[in-house]
Amino acid sequence: MKIELADRSVVVFGAARGIGRAIADGFVSEGCRVVGFDRAAPENGDQSAAEGHGTRSPFPLVVGDVTDANQVVSFAESVGPVDHVVYCVGIGSGGFGFPSWNVDASSWPSVLDVNLIGAARVANALAPGMVERRHGSFLFLTSVAGQIGSQTDPPYSASKAALINYMQCLAKDLAPAGVRANALSPGMVKTELNRSVWAWGQARLPAEERVEYEAWAEAKIRTVSPLGRWQEPAEFASMAIYLASDHARNITGQTINIDGGWVMHS
Ligand SMILES: NC(=O)c1ccc[n+]([C@@H]2O[C@H](COP(=O)([O-])OP(=O)(O)OC[C@H]3O[C@@H](n4cnc5c(N)ncnc54)[C@H](O)[C@@H]3O)[C@@H](O)[C@H]2O)c1
Repeated sequence: MKIELADRSVVVFGAARGIGRAIADGFVSEGCRVVGFDRAAPENGDQSAAEGHGTRSPFPLVVGDVTDANQVVSFAESVGPVDHVVYCVGIGSGGFGFPSWNVDASSWPSVLDVNLIGAARVANALAPGMVERRHGSFLFLTSVAGQIGSQTDPPYSASKAALINYMQCLAKDLAPAGVRANALSPGMVKTELNRSVWAWGQARLPAEERVEYEAWAEAKIRTVSPLGRWQEPAEFASMAIYLASDHARNITGQTINIDGGWVMHS
């Protein structure tokens, strides 16, 4: 299958590390012109991705925060015409724990601001140009948590459910112009975000019950995923590339799970 995305313009929000970094790298390898946006500061003052990596990215990375509408608008104006937008930014509340009423309401606004409203700021800034050119696609990283009501982090879970709904609203708005919007839903990927869930739980266990991250993760993945296999960042890059391509021209408003079968749609 020929993908044929060369010279397309792609912007990836949350491109400094993890899944976003892998997706940005994937588009670069397809010959796309990629620009990243992330709150992580560039390493050594150059244009490389920083936090959690220590490696230089092959694409320019603009430092900014999706909770700041002015920064998002300035970024959108600076990148010129965009073909594909990928929103990988996501945070947990840090207020994990159940029952949900143990999570203080003050944990909610920052999660919604980043995971949901940030996505709307990005779409508000970039959708009009894409509609005018009648070309392009949006892709949002949601989560299995947004489909099953995860007890681990209720603000995160609810923000991801709302993101799916928002993506569908956007997909309907964009469709008359032939612009598409979809979501990818990871189950468990070994990134800093995933590690933070382990760290929070371990800190609350007696010392003799604590386990290393790898042991915790292997046990969890076998419990939740029929395939019993971790998802890799590169798997999201492959799907993102396919969804951006013209092969996916009839796919919009969809949430595609790459989760080892954790959530199965009817
Ligand atoms: N890792 C998993 O197991 C998993 C599971 C389900 C869903 N997800 C989702 O996939 C996406 C990527 O996750 P990841 O594991 O790569 O996470 P990550 O924490 O490794 O990467 C997230 C990136 O977003 C950036 N970011 C955070 N807040 C920001 C802000 N306000 N403005 C700009 N940038 C900001 C971070 O600096 C980081 O580079 C997220 O939306 C996450 O919720 C991940």
